[in-house]
Order: sequence, then structure tokens, then C-alpha cells
Amino acid sequence: MTQPGFRFSGVGSVLPDKVVTNDDLAKTMDTSDEWIRERTGIGERRLGGTTSGLAADAARLAMERANVGPDDIDQLLLATTTPDYMLPGTAPAVAEILGLDCGAIDIQAACSGWVYGLVMANGFLLQGEKRILVVGAETLERMTDYTDRGTGILFGNGAGAAVVEPGPGEILGWDLGADGKYVKILWAEHGENMSMDGKEVFRQAVTAIQRSANAALDRAGLTTDDIDFVIPHQANIRIVEAAWKRLGFTMEQTGMRLEETGNTSAASIPLTLDKVLDEGRISDGDTVMLIGFGAGMTWATTIMRWSGDDRAAA
Ligand code: UT7
Repeated sequence: MTQPGFRFSGVGSVLPDKVVTNDDLAKTMDTSDEWIRERTGIGERRLGGTTSGLAADAARLAMERANVGPDDIDQLLLATTTPDYMLPGTAPAVAEILGLDCGAIDIQAACSGWVYGLVMANGFLLQGEKRILVVGAETLERMTDYTDRGTGILFGNGAGAAVVEPGPGEILGWDLGADGKYVKILWAEHGENMSMDGKEVFRQAVTAIQRSANAALDRAGLTTDDIDFVIPHQANIRIVEAAWKRLGFTMEQTGMRLEETGNTSAASIPLTLDKVLDEGRISDGDTVMLIGFGAGMTWATTIMRWSGDDRAAA
């Protein structure tokens, strides 16, 4: 099969208005701004909105930047672990808000979902489709207990989106994985808040990042020295630092938005990508790695020769 290439024609992200600082949380639980910053790297998180509403707002920005309208989108892939309803999926509602007339499905792979979506989008492009909208959107507030200091300090709401199409860039290597042995280290029963064994998630996350990054590098025939820029899932800065020590990446080549957003699960990588593009830190031809990891456990890595979103239509 011929490789059609992979270009990010537009990226966008949104955060809801309500800011909850660490000091705000310290009023309702036994914690402090100093502890949360030092142990996680998080300064604040945003609450409010709905998953479909945030998803549609982020998608609109991505579509504007890509200079495309609803008729141009061939598929909508929505990564979310906090759907608006048990039934149906949230993607059809997002498609309705945006006026899309195309396939629309949810991807539930927790924090790895958006990167799973990119690999799936590449598959659609290989089958001849022209533009895929890949959205990560979360309202983690729905299943977070903000009086529990073990989980309540970490999670927030937000959404990010990208329009991808054939182009001069390319997915050079990828890795998708899951290990169901670890379902019960981070999970939520129907109608309940999430439960988490934070230490075990931390340990498994560091292992998963390392394993997935190396598997994707092998598939691409590259080494860590070939990677110009990396965006990891934004869960805890210490997870990233521990994994980077093993892999040999530096924080200077790393995109982070955790301080401002907290952990936004499937939304975290596109939210960070949008910020990094604003800062002009990725250019055409760069070799860029995205690494998702999270509940399941699931993990997902892509390595791309970057092409796209020069913010022209912004
Ligand atoms: O997408 C994946 C989502 N999940 C994650 O990323 C979670 C990964 N895990 C983590 O980020 C960390 O394990 C936490 C941030 C959840 C906890 O950090 P930790 O460094 O593993 O803390 P700990 O559980 O080992 O607790 C250390 C101490 C304990 O006190 P003692 O026993 O030493 O007196 C805790 O009771 O810190 C205490 N503690 C807190 N203190 C203030 C635990 N949570 C807090 C808190 N504020 N929020």
C-alpha cells in the first residue's frame, strides 16, 4: 500500500472557564500548593463544560486553522473516557453540533486515546479518505472526588483537536498496547468516582512509556537521538522525568502544559500540541514523538516527520 503521508492541517484546543487552583483545593482537603507542585507539577486545573461542547469548540478551532468546513471532514474520531452519556457515544453529538455528515465514533483508551486515534486516522488516509478530525475531550470532573487528596489534586477538564490529511509529513513509527492485568489500579465503576493506586500507576506508567517509545523507535528504525521533540501525556512531571532519565530525552525538547491544566486524560496531548505550536517549537521536517499512557493500562506512541499547522489561518 502506498503511504499517502500525514499532515496536521489544523490544531486547536480549549479549556473551560472555571479555574481551580491548588490553594482552592487546600480549602476542602488536607493538602497544599507546595505539595501538589512538588509531587506532580500541577498548579491549577479547569472545571465546567460538557465533553461534547468542549470537543466541538476545540474541533472548530482546528477546522478554522485547517481552513476546512463540515463537508470536508470524512471521519470524526473522538477519544474520551468521560462520555456525556452511557449510551450513545459522544461523537455523534459532536458531529451534530459541527454539522458533519460522516462516520463518528468514540475511542475509549483512557489517556492513550488521542494517540490511538492518530494511528487509526492514518489507516483511514491509507484507505483513501482525505480529512480526519481527531479530537480528545474530557470532563474528568464527572468522576473525580475533589475531597480525596489521592485523586482530586490531579484531574481537570479540557479538549484538543486536529484535522489530519495526506501531505508531506509521515508517521514513521508507532506502537499501540494494552495490559488488562492492571485494570484495577485506575478504574471507575458505573456511576462512581475513580479509584486509583497512585504508586502503582506511577510505576507502570514509567515502564509503559519506556517500552512503547522503544517499540515505536524500533519500528521506525530510529534511536532517541533522532527525536527532535517529544510530547508525553500530561499526568505527573515526575513520571516524565523518571522515564526521560531512562530514555535519554531532555525537558528542553519536551512539550508540557500540565501546570496549567492538570491531567486531562485523552485531551492532554492535543492541548499541549496546540500550546507548542503557538510557541513555534515544532517546524516542518522535525521528528516528533507523542507518547500516551494511562488506565487499562493502555499506551500509544507515534513518531512523525512533522508537517503542518503553520497557524496561517489563525
Ligand atoms: O493518567 C494517569 C493518571 N494517574 C496518575 O498519573 C497517578 C500517578 N501517581 C502519582 O501521580 C502519585 O503517586 C501521586 C501524586 C498520586 C501521589 O504522590 P506520591 O509521591 O506517590 O505520594 P505518596 O502516595 O507516596 O504519599 C507521600 C506522602 C504520604 O504521607 P506520609 O505517609 O509520608 O506521611 C501521603 O499521605 O504524602 C501524603 N500525601 C499528600 N500530602 C499532601 C498524599 N497525597 C497528598 C496530597 N497532599 N495531595
